[in-house]
Amino acid sequence: MPGANRWNYDGRVTQSHRADPSPSPAPQGDPAALAGLRQDLADADYTVQQLGEIVGPVAIAALDREQALPALDAARASTAPAAALMRLLSLGEQVTRRELDRALPRSGTAGAIRLGLVAAAGSGPDDGVRALVDLRPVDVGPGGLWLASDLGEVATNQAVHPEHVLGLGAAGRTLAELTVRSPVARVLDVGTGCGIQALQIASFAEQLVGTDISSRALDYAAFNAGLNEVALDLRRGDMLAPVAGERFDLIVSNPPFVITPRADSGGAPDGSGSQVPGGASSSAPLQRFTYRDGGRSGDRLLADLVGQIGAHLNPGGVAQLLANWEIPRGGHWSEHVRDWLAGTGLDAWVIQREATDPAHYAETWLRDGGITPERNPAHWQQAYRAYLADFAARDTEAIGFGYLILRRGSDQDAPWRRFEELTARLPPAPHHAIAHTLAAQQYLAGADQMLPGERLLAERLVVAGDVTEERHYRPGQPDPEVVLLHQGGQLGRSVRVGSNTAAAVGACDGELTLEQITTAVGVLTDAEPVQVRAEVLPVLADLFLDGFLTIA
Ligand SMILES: C[S@@+](CC[C@H](N)C(=O)[O-])C[C@H]1O[C@@H](n2cnc3c(N)ncnc32)[C@H](O)[C@@H]1O
Repeated sequence: MPGANRWNYDGRVTQSHRADPSPSPAPQGDPAALAGLRQDLADADYTVQQLGEIVGPVAIAALDREQALPALDAARASTAPAAALMRLLSLGEQVTRRELDRALPRSGTAGAIRLGLVAAAGSGPDDGVRALVDLRPVDVGPGGLWLASDLGEVATNQAVHPEHVLGLGAAGRTLAELTVRSPVARVLDVGTGCGIQALQIASFAEQLVGTDISSRALDYAAFNAGLNEVALDLRRGDMLAPVAGERFDLIVSNPPFVITPRADSGGAPDGSGSQVPGGASSSAPLQRFTYRDGGRSGDRLLADLVGQIGAHLNPGGVAQLLANWEIPRGGHWSEHVRDWLAGTGLDAWVIQREATDPAHYAETWLRDGGITPERNPAHWQQAYRAYLADFAARDTEAIGFGYLILRRGSDQDAPWRRFEELTARLPPAPHHAIAHTLAAQQYLAGADQMLPGERLLAERLVVAGDVTEERHYRPGQPDPEVVLLHQGGQLGRSVRVGSNTAAAVGACDGELTLEQITTAVGVLTDAEPVQVRAEVLPVLADLFLDGFLTIA
């Protein structure tokens, strides 16, 4: 993940001084032109793996820190067509028409100009060609994708435009990696941007709808859909408005969740700048970036989205969202999210990954928008104060970042709710763990039980292959003081368990039922089986939910 900065949409550290005055229009082309380009990119082996081999891991790591120099030098030293494409289309360097004609033999420079990808200084083979858009391979989805988006700051050395269309950033990658990949009929991607989420879901969905308020974003999504041969139904409008009355099996959204000060708190999004609240500063608008700011006060955008999303889910349908939430002073981190969920009847699993204080939050997003204290101290101070005043007005102590996994369960049962903080680095492909837990929760919920997990008593369980146990003893003591179970996969959890639970888990080798095992633990510890079960079953149910234990 670039810069390992999950707060930032693309992990970049802003280096620019001026806002890009007028972004190029999104590229577009007819199916034949897109087919030619697709073939060219495939023949050039313009893939994440090939680019990694050309520039090497050190340059890739530097790129993650927004430093293009090592990658540029390595790409210049290579004669591979993919190296020329990388220099031009993702690093912002000019190449000659000759180089581009060689890298894209079917489309040629003339075809790339017609598609709106590049502009050329002249028609001679040595004339320079510069990129108008970013076009790069990304390694999400089963076979990877080619993704066009606006040029980033590394390429332009300018602050991005308010209508900037993001490529694959850190947040987008996170959502893609979390998205459960079971075959589904209808999928909705809210705030689709360049279409990355919808495109990476295409291999397991029958029908895909993407919505966005930005027509530039939708133009990019249409180009990317054509280039990657995906059918995408794209609709313009505010959040769920374009799908009124429609239902889906999976809804994903990396929404514009960034909390931005505004005078018109709660007003409808209109694309205007947000006014810095308070006195003289109110004359200076704080730039609104469509890619990150949905035009509502505080975390209202997510409140509205969560409140309305259930009406768009088919029974059993799942929604996966990224979000920021405000944490009220003295309150629990989940307070706002619980309020959003109240009355929805949705099952909800909410994971907070990190929390930050208002000042840190303000700095992050001011820098993301190109405002730094070095460049423009007066503007920095004014805008910084606006953020602090905005959070203070709602007595916000901190801002949480995390994921919401929502499911429309049976309307009869009380909804399942789980709120947890998971701050450790997640193992690869966390979508497996999400899918596992959703299925395990449904299994556990599908029975009348006195105790959580009672249904497991009849099962023969086994310990998952990625689980290890760690024991700590006080010197001279025969029994461990602390027993920890660790997961290598799933969500990489570590759980402290009591000795009875550890004994029961240790006996889960698929031979005996859990009822037999808990009886045996009772015999060994001189306790009634009913007491042992009351103690260990809730813990074993959680271990089952989280994939430490599975049914043999
Ligand atoms: C963070 S970007 C996500 C883009 C892409 N889905 C991804 O995962 O990288 C948020 C998207 O929401 C769009 N957006 C902003 N305000 C919106 C609104 N009120 N309604 C719908 N979409 C909106 C932006 O244009 C942008 O494309």
